[in-house]
This record gives sequence, structure tokens and C-alpha cells, in this order.
Amino acid sequence: MDKSKIPTAQRAALSLLLDDHRNVKKLFKSFESAKERSEKEQIAQQTCHELTVHAQIEEEIFYPGLRGVHEKIDEMLDEAKVEHQVAKDLIAAIEGDLSGEMLEANYKVLSEYVNHHVQEEENELFKMVISKNVELGEMAEQMTARKEELMGAMA
Ligand SMILES: [Fe+2]
Ligand SMILES: [Fe+2]
Repeated sequence: MDKSKIPTAQRAALSLLLDDHRNVKKLFKSFESAKERSEKEQIAQQTCHELTVHAQIEEEIFYPGLRGVHEKIDEMLDEAKVEHQVAKDLIAAIEGDLSGEMLEANYKVLSEYVNHHVQEEENELFKMVISKNVELGEMAEQMTARKEELMGAMA
């Protein structure tokens, strides 16, 4: 999604989420190209950390702010909730056995799954938020503050 096409009032909030999406996609690629096992474990740990924080700010601030605006958006939010849960299960499996032999498989499935979720978010949910001109108000500030708090707490 091209940030310049996002209406000014919605740009800060959506850009923050788009940046997170791009960041994890980069991590997926680095994992794939990493040669050392220790490097893979470190990237996997960072990916899990970043995804957990991202999912939490969406669940605490972004998704609730979109509830009740449009029936179709509510349906997408229900689906997103289920998808987040599946991702969390994979994250727990990875974090719970970082040195285990299932790391590569779990990480691959997580990356494919998250790529799918991100695509739906950007191509369906964000597009709908823009076309329905959903009021995002102070969400950018709230999400930034919450993200800093969570990153600090988990570091
Ligand atoms: Fe999400
Ligand atoms: Fe997201």
C-alpha cells in the first residue's frame, strides 16, 4: 500500500502499522538467508517479539476503534482475531523451543501465515477504512505510546 495515497487524517495511524508490516517481512527474509543457527534463533526471537507487540496494539487500540462502523469491517475484525490467535500459537511454539528441531518449520508456517494476514489487512481492511473514511482520531499517538511501553517492558 502506497502511503502517499492514504488521506492525511488517516496517514499517521495506518503508516505506523504499515511500517511494522514491512519490518517483519524484512525479518522473514533475513531468517531465510541466515546461515548460522544462532542467527536464525536470534531473528526468530526478534520476529516473535515484534509480532506480539504489533498484534497487541492492533487488538487494544486499532481494532476496537474500527468496531461498529460498518458490517463488513466487523466481519474482517472477527477474522483478524482468529488469525491473530493462530499466529500467537505459532509464536508460542517458536518461543517455547527456540533451539528445537521444529524451529525452521514453525517459522516458515508463521511467515506464510502472517504474510497472508498482512495482505488481507492492507488490501481489504485498510482499504475499507479509507473508503468509508473511518475516523482514526488520536490512534497514531496512542499506538506509538503503547508500542514504546510494550517494547520497553519486553526488552
Ligand atoms: Fe493484524
Ligand atoms: Fe497488522
